[in-house]
Amino acid sequence: MRRPLVMGNWKMNGSLVANQALLDALAPVATECSGIDIAVCPSHIYLPQVSSICEGSAIQVGAQNMCDQDKGAFTGEVSAEMLRDFDINYVLVGHSERRAIYGETDVQVAAKVEKALQKGLVPVLCVGETLEERKSGDMQQVIETQIRAVLQHSTIKAFAQLVVAYEPVWAIGTGETATPEQAQEVHAFIRDLLAQESAEIAARTTILYGGSVSAANADALFAMPDVDGGLVGGASLKAGDFAAICRAAQGSL
Ligand code: PGA
Repeated sequence: MRRPLVMGNWKMNGSLVANQALLDALAPVATECSGIDIAVCPSHIYLPQVSSICEGSAIQVGAQNMCDQDKGAFTGEVSAEMLRDFDINYVLVGHSERRAIYGETDVQVAAKVEKALQKGLVPVLCVGETLEERKSGDMQQVIETQIRAVLQHSTIKAFAQLVVAYEPVWAIGTGETATPEQAQEVHAFIRDLLAQESAEIAARTTILYGGSVSAANADALFAMPDVDGGLVGGASLKAGDFAAICRAAQGSL
């Protein structure tokens, strides 16, 4: 049985005061939703603050990005070991904003996944197609290429430890969500792809849906058999909405 996971991707939002208020409001929700895992991913600069607030609570902490190198002349980058220094559990890798705005390639994404695993972090491998790719019938090919880059670099064994997040680019921050059926179709496709390498690992891999997850649609999305939780952007900044999404995951058990 896969344990549901709800992650908040705060993106470039937050402040010392706002983060404290949000986490204060979420603390009882994490206690209440004891059957699921909950994590938040603040900007790097707030990781020490958030990690310290969450110490001893059921809320785990993730970073939004990391470098694929150990240390040295990589101005502006943050290494996996630095994240470990602050008790960070997860790291988002290959978010579509990193791919589209900062030009991250499948090869770089695969290297980051491998580095995160080596250093004991759980990478959250983000994959997803653009609207043009979906419309032109290339959706499965695009997602398969993104997944295969990691299979080639790290083998199927990586998928025993990492989390996959399917985030259709057209649904991110747009208010347009994939229907539960559309999400299920792609999640099943990803699981089948992994099952070609190992049915046992594929059955265990947590696959999150992301893209305009809200308090209104979370129940229906999480009811799908291959949707194991959500990667939540905008709605994760509002305590009430994020709490409702966590409760939907808890209710899907
Ligand atoms: P959204 O973002 O929920 O605001 O669409 C999701 C994400 O980018 O992870």
